[in-house]
Amino acid sequence: GKGEYDHYMLKEINTQPTALSNTIEGRIEDGDVAFESLPPGTFADVDSVQFVACGTSYHAAMYGGQLVREAGVRAEVLRASEYESTAGPVDETTLVVAVTQSGETADTLDAVRKAADRGARTLAVTNVVGSTAAREADDAVYIRAGPEVGVAATKTYSSQAVTLALLSQRLAGDVPDAAPVADRAAMLEALEDLPQHVETVLETSTAESLAEETLDSESFFFIGNGRGRSVALEGALKFKEITYEHAEGFAAGELKHGPLALVTEATPVFAVATGGADDKTKTNAIEAQSRGAPIVAIGPDDHPLVDIADAHLSVPDTHPVWTGLLANVQLQLLSYHAADQLDRPIDKPRNLAKSVTVE
Ligand code: F6R
Repeated sequence: GKGEYDHYMLKEINTQPTALSNTIEGRIEDGDVAFESLPPGTFADVDSVQFVACGTSYHAAMYGGQLVREAGVRAEVLRASEYESTAGPVDETTLVVAVTQSGETADTLDAVRKAADRGARTLAVTNVVGSTAAREADDAVYIRAGPEVGVAATKTYSSQAVTLALLSQRLAGDVPDAAPVADRAAMLEALEDLPQHVETVLETSTAESLAEETLDSESFFFIGNGRGRSVALEGALKFKEITYEHAEGFAAGELKHGPLALVTEATPVFAVATGGADDKTKTNAIEAQSRGAPIVAIGPDDHPLVDIADAHLSVPDTHPVWTGLLANVQLQLLSYHAADQLDRPIDKPRNLAKSVTVE
């Protein structure tokens, strides 16, 4: 049940420290990645990776896909519903990774079946043991987030992103010519602290009062670059899904190529700091600010974006690979509290289903 919480979504946001501890449990050994079902060498024949996913899982796949590319492995991240028109050719050296919490999303199953028919190797990254994706793929890795009841995916996003980050390091070790990130030991060490950092965000977040202050706006924009872009897109999806307010996520650098025309004093811009390539986010946030938009920075206290921002949602300073996931928790809380203040049916938003089994 929901226990002490008003909604499953809030419960699931708050159980992320436990979910993440379960996700990483036993998967880091001697400074390296350990996957029960995928021992070292599993991907020695892999040359490139295609991720296929929908919605929130697509955003987690974007986060993971970037880490795979940073490891020197060719990777594309594709919307499952667009697989036919966007996927490059595949063969037995292509690993097609279906990222799907439920393991039952029709678009994702269809994409991965097409890839398998064409000879690709397949891997399911899912929350549900025995799901269709897990049964049909050549291999499966479980994200171990525990059951998610709220229609809006929260803890499964975090656990998916972390699982994919670990997968990126297995690929880095296995794929010829790939290389683990230079500071892998530090990155994995910081991962072990991630549940505690999420706990800090949950305990200190000022998202509720910020939601109240900004709620009377026309539109809500979310911007970020690099890993921050996927967090911005996810922030906007969650916000529109449960508040029914107009929200959009953009790559920060794209703002000036059109969306800036929408920016006024009535459109707060939430700018995600990731500790990575954030310069563009800062410059474009300043552009929006000079058109009157209030800027909210989400990131560590000493981040340059915070200096220029009108408001700040703070996250602990950690390895830059994980900062975006902490920012995402702040954005989950922002969406939740905004929807709660609007009295929306948070766990069952109109027109949406937990598992989308039609194409
Ligand atoms: C958004 C949300 C959806 C799902 C999408 C894929 O909060 O939950 O966008 O992420 O329908 O679902 P799965 O991961 O089950 O394939």
